[in-house]
Amino acid sequence: MPCPYDDRFDGDDREMTVIARETLSFFFTFFQRESGLVLDESKTYLIESRLDPLVRAEGLSSIDELRKRIQQETSPVLKKKVIEAMTTNETSFFRDITPFTVLKTTVIPEVVKANQKSRRLRIWSVACSTGQEPYSLAMVVAELAPELQGWDVRILGTDIADKVLDRAQAGVYTQHEVQRGLSVAYLMRFFAQQGDEWAVKPEVKHFVQFRQFNLLTDFSSLGTFDVIFLRNVLIYFDNATKKQILDRMGHALSPGGTLFLGGTETPIGITDQWVRVKLDQGICYKKQRSA
Ligand SMILES: C[S@@+](CC[C@H](N)C(=O)[O-])C[C@H]1O[C@@H](n2cnc3c(N)ncnc32)[C@H](O)[C@@H]1O
Repeated sequence: MPCPYDDRFDGDDREMTVIARETLSFFFTFFQRESGLVLDESKTYLIESRLDPLVRAEGLSSIDELRKRIQQETSPVLKKKVIEAMTTNETSFFRDITPFTVLKTTVIPEVVKANQKSRRLRIWSVACSTGQEPYSLAMVVAELAPELQGWDVRILGTDIADKVLDRAQAGVYTQHEVQRGLSVAYLMRFFAQQGDEWAVKPEVKHFVQFRQFNLLTDFSSLGTFDVIFLRNVLIYFDNATKKQILDRMGHALSPGGTLFLGGTETPIGITDQWVRVKLDQGICYKKQRSA
């Protein structure tokens, strides 16, 4: 049965679309299963605004036809495009600043003391979008070069969406992007101008590696990390998925390691595996001793 809706996105005044109820239910289940994204009928406008460009690019007539193609298609390519189209990739350099300050003033100095023997620092930016988060982490590391002299430092940036990872890998940003969160001093020190754009310098870039990775899958192949930035992605999931990810995240953290979440995200009321720690002005999480 058709399901009309009038809840428009950003004042969009195109003709009202009708998506079959069967198609909506298919996509609700599909996104939750494939990427964890939870949607309901109040987000119908979002499905339409994100999938319409893909429908056109694939030469299809409607979102209903897209659903039929996914159901028939054995190749994962179209599925992947649909999952990527629904991701929200909003990010910026030094987003919310405090976690990066705490990392620099407290967390990395702690790791430097604890890992004197291995001289190894591993940081994971879990849902890194177009790379601003892992490059911000790399700029913090570059600033601590004297303390980390002779250390093996690696930052891993992962995301489910290849389209954002391609941009992250390139490390080239527009004027607008560098104006979001970067001071002029950082821009001048760590970026080189390329025409109208700005490229991350090799001294920062060499710390960072990127890899496509779905948070719903097994983390064990990634190794363990001293610091994990899991920021602004749990907000898209339901509590059962958040719990499952937060519990498994504990195994990806080295003993004494530190987890940072987004400003509106918390494990409180979801899992008791994490202890909230206030460091300077920032909040981070440590593994519960028994966990
Ligand atoms: C809003 S961005 C957050 C970027 C960055 N962490 C920050 O805080 O600025 C959320 C990112 O999570 C990614 N994402 C969504 N579901 C995911 C999943 N199941 N596995 C890995 N990444 C996912 C999206 O592709 C998107 O780039």
